[in-house]
Amino acid sequence: MTSDNTDRADLTDRVALVTGSSSGLGYAAAEALARRGARIVLSSRGGDKLATAERRLSAVSPEVISVAADVRDPLQLEDLVSTAEEALGSIDILVANGGGPKVKPAAELDDADWEEAWPLVFLFVPRLCRLVLPAMRRRGWGRIVAINSVSTKQPIAGLALSNSLRPAVMGYVKTLAQEVAAEGVTINAVLPGYTRTERQLEIAEGIAARTGAGVDEVLAERQGDFPIGRMAEPGEIGEVVGFLCSDAASYLTGQAVTVDGGYARGLL
Ligand SMILES: NC(=O)c1ccc[n+]([C@@H]2O[C@H](COP(=O)([O-])OP(=O)(O)OC[C@H]3O[C@@H](n4cnc5c(N)ncnc54)[C@H](OP(=O)(O)O)[C@@H]3O)[C@@H](O)[C@H]2O)c1
Repeated sequence: MTSDNTDRADLTDRVALVTGSSSGLGYAAAEALARRGARIVLSSRGGDKLATAERRLSAVSPEVISVAADVRDPLQLEDLVSTAEEALGSIDILVANGGGPKVKPAAELDDADWEEAWPLVFLFVPRLCRLVLPAMRRRGWGRIVAINSVSTKQPIAGLALSNSLRPAVMGYVKTLAQEVAAEGVTINAVLPGYTRTERQLEIAEGIAARTGAGVDEVLAERQGDFPIGRMAEPGEIGEVVGFLCSDAASYLTGQAVTVDGGYARGLL
């Protein structure tokens, strides 16, 4: 590590691809990277939501484009990366994020549920890494962050698909980190706890519909689960992603960084 006056948080001229970024945690990550000076490729399944996110982010980012791609489709991921590279140049930073799997008790899951969740929760992460890694390795610098979940540390009731598949992402992250560490590429996962996003609201609405409780009641009940006394705001996760993607995090790789307000009670 050098001890000059360079701002090691600065990401000026870095190109960052953030998938699942028209809202929620993905958007917050893109915003944190943009504030550090990165040029941003936003991506989600597309439509007005993505166009609105692009307009919003252009107030913060030196340059932002958006490209529609469903993370479950390998051909769309290939097109996404090549379109991004044509527009902004090689990708320095990848934030791999997507939608959450359906909420269903473990005993009720059938094969179709597992097959539907696998590409959405796991498979797109190695697929995207395969596409961006060659250029990162050639240049000797790269940052990859997978948005995972605190369910990797402490299973969440009713989220059997997430509880089962998120640890697989961690296994991949840890293994890849060891393979590319000496080449200037780091890969980590961020494990958010409950964060106030559309997804979290949908989960609360689902519980409310099943139990007959009001959505506000469900959300209020949850507060007791967090030692910190409240859910996270998306920006509190985004800031951690911003740090992990900077030079300041140069010695941090293969880690599961839990940002959960103290929710997970285990020692590690
Ligand atoms: N919020 C939490 O408390 C929490 C905690 C732990 C983990 N997580 C996980 O973190 C991830 C993001 O969650 P969030 O809370 O930010 O959810 P969110 O607010 O619903 O955002 C999900 C984002 O992913 C995009 N998306 C959904 N399906 C996609 C697909 N098939 N292909 C491409 N983009 C897709 C959505 O955009 P479009 O609709 O425009 O495609 C949106 O931009 C999820 O995997 C979630 O399970 C969330």
